[in-house]
Amino acid sequence: MTASYPNLRLRRTRTHGWSRAMHRENVLTPSDLIWPLFVTEGSGVEEPIATLPGVSRWSTDGIAARAKEAMELGIPCISLFPNTPADKRSDEGAEALNPDNLMCRAIKSIRDACGDGIGVLTDVALDPYTAHGQDGLVDASGYVLNDDTVAVLVDQALNQAQAGADIIAPSDMMDGRVHAIRMALEMNGHPNVQIMSYAAKYASAFYGPFRDAVGSRGLLKGDKKTYQMDPANAQEALREVALDLAEGADSVMVKPGLPYLDIVAKVKQRFDVPVFAYQVSGEYAMIEAAVAAGAGDRDALVLETLMAFKRAGCAGVLTYHAAHAARLLNG
Ligand code: PBG
Repeated sequence: MTASYPNLRLRRTRTHGWSRAMHRENVLTPSDLIWPLFVTEGSGVEEPIATLPGVSRWSTDGIAARAKEAMELGIPCISLFPNTPADKRSDEGAEALNPDNLMCRAIKSIRDACGDGIGVLTDVALDPYTAHGQDGLVDASGYVLNDDTVAVLVDQALNQAQAGADIIAPSDMMDGRVHAIRMALEMNGHPNVQIMSYAAKYASAFYGPFRDAVGSRGLLKGDKKTYQMDPANAQEALREVALDLAEGADSVMVKPGLPYLDIVAKVKQRFDVPVFAYQVSGEYAMIEAAVAAGAGDRDALVLETLMAFKRAGCAGVLTYHAAHAARLLNG
């Protein structure tokens, strides 16, 4: 039973700022944000990424400085992606298993700078390390092999955990990898390392700038449609999430973000577990392009899109705007 006009005027509670604040259903804080950072070789290096204006790759010293900045802004976690030099890429992506690779050095530099004050999330997938740009091992026809890839991903995850990663985030979409990684973490002394699975990750056209950032765009032939999901599918996303939870994921991710908020809402409703979304590189680039074209205000666009994730049910959002948004939120 509800009143109707004029007894009920929904505009009444919107009349003043204090009242809008009082009736606000969702809040956005810096602790909702995860900041993805790109790592490059060297020292004192900052390399701007043309298709991600305002985002740079940083050498490990710069990464440590960014992590410290994030911690001071109240951002609880950063996410790392390496730009592996071409001479260290191979068809097998063996550099992913090197205990002294760029990722492991970046994790350690963050630990030195921040201690346990900030979480470090690491991506598990082979595309930043392979010469062909696919996320796994390929056969002669170019097909990405599932089980052979999972075996390598397990070693990659252990390598990252050993270096001090707090959250392992498999972004490869191989079947069975969450279970395999969870067992390996348990059996190798990392029972408290979390898994945030990219459970519903779509074969999306929004990843272009990211592939520039990790240096895989020019290498990748074809697409990732035999493992990443078809953008037409929603029911299948629920099956993916159910599997990853059963296999031992602590939280799940939906990716990309804004175009897939329906998936976020469905997952939250069905499973009521921590759901994260990745506002991906192409989404960031769209906002920045709109700002550059004079079509919108950056601060307002950033905060509105991030609030949309909270409204849809997200526990948090991976976004390249994290530091900027945190600064806005902190006033
Ligand atoms: C790779 C990976 C991708 C992203 C995160 N991990 C790209 C891809 O699947 O090709 C995309 C992130 C973004 O676009 O910001 N495993």
